[in-house]
Amino acid sequence: MNVLTPAVDSFDMGKRTVFDQGLENELAAGVDFFADEMTHWNAGSRLEELHKEVLQYRGLVRGLLFALASAIDTKDPRTHGHSVRVGTIAVLLGKELKRPSRELETLEFGGLLHDLGKIGLPEPLLETGATWSAADEALIRSHPEQGDRILSRVPGLEAIREIIRHHHERWDGQGFPDGLRGKEIPLTARIVAVANRFDSLAEHTSGGKSRSLDSTLQKMAEEAQSSLDGRVVEALIHVAAEGLLRIGKERCAGIAIERPTSFYP
Ligand SMILES: [Fe+2]
Repeated sequence: MNVLTPAVDSFDMGKRTVFDQGLENELAAGVDFFADEMTHWNAGSRLEELHKEVLQYRGLVRGLLFALASAIDTKDPRTHGHSVRVGTIAVLLGKELKRPSRELETLEFGGLLHDLGKIGLPEPLLETGATWSAADEALIRSHPEQGDRILSRVPGLEAIREIIRHHHERWDGQGFPDGLRGKEIPLTARIVAVANRFDSLAEHTSGGKSRSLDSTLQKMAEEAQSSLDGRVVEALIHVAAEGLLRIGKERCAGIAIERPTSFYP
């Protein structure tokens, strides 16, 4: 059939009926198809199923990341639970800094995996009291790049890789691996750097005693603007004032922070 024909009625009624019937059948089949789909969707079951599948998938990814973080921490017995605490503190800081919900998840995963590159380091290097040669130090300092490289084949993790790569950059540009300074350093990496420093300071005892929360925060404030982003350190002080951070004995028992029930908004 030529639908562009100039004739008003270019085919006879018989043919037209055949055409109409054909069209009608096509339409009817189309309507039946959509009705089936709508019935399916209206029941809500498919939608619910998809929602459940997404949640299950997210739970699986989350579980795998925690398992990986635990494997990282196992490499260094001095820092047991460190990765999980850094991820959690980074989220608290992100919330305090009013970062979007999607970024909070990135902060948690970036915090969990920030030391991923240590997984390839020889264990003796991480033992207490180990002495390091210049070559050892270079190897240890390569862990941000190694972590970044490990995840480079997984598409979609660029934001997390940025945290891993830049968590040892310093505000004054004296950090590594790229010597970024100030706001050249991605904000997420600056946040994880503060969380990382807080947990490391809280972990190290001075004279056999754990530091108090106040002295830890005082030390952080001194480091603001030289190695750390002052605005993020300020956020940490606010989070501490809300009573969300724990150090000392409670922390040693594995309770590093008061994890709020509404972790993500
Ligand atoms: Fe690190």
